[in-house]
Amino acid sequence: MSKSKTNNGNAFPDDNESLARRSFVRLALGGVGLCYAGALGYPVYRYLASPVEMAAGLAAVTEVSLNDAQKLPQGSVLMFKFGSHPGMLIHHRDDTWVALDAVCTHLGCTVQYEPANNRIFCACHGGTYDPRTGANVSGPPPRPLKRYVVKVLETSVLVSRA
Ligand code: FES
Repeated sequence: MSKSKTNNGNAFPDDNESLARRSFVRLALGGVGLCYAGALGYPVYRYLASPVEMAAGLAAVTEVSLNDAQKLPQGSVLMFKFGSHPGMLIHHRDDTWVALDAVCTHLGCTVQYEPANNRIFCACHGGTYDPRTGANVSGPPPRPLKRYVVKVLETSVLVSRA
């Protein structure tokens, strides 16, 4: 009698059992593989889709009302959202108002107003912009910041597309 024989007398008694185990292992590995692919693929999808969503969010909004922003002291800035985009409302010391898109035109970092240096600065790669016009002044930014139209009202400031 061979060692591989079992009670039922088959030469390969574990064939059905072995097949079931292999199927189970394949199914389990397939499930793990799908989970792994999802875990890797979803962040990549979100990364690739976000500019499209941001553009769609930006396109859907035509104006934003900033309540009480008329009280913004001269020489200061108010960051706000224009759709999904960050924006900045600057009240200059000479009482002029400027609203700009706050997304750097180089690689999309959020820029900051620096009143002491009279500039808008992007900390990612050192790009600078003019705080009155949004023009790109130095560094890698290839285009100016987008300007919005500003209307100062009694109880708010209305920011809209140019
Ligand atoms: S992202 Fe602003 S300078 Fe590069």
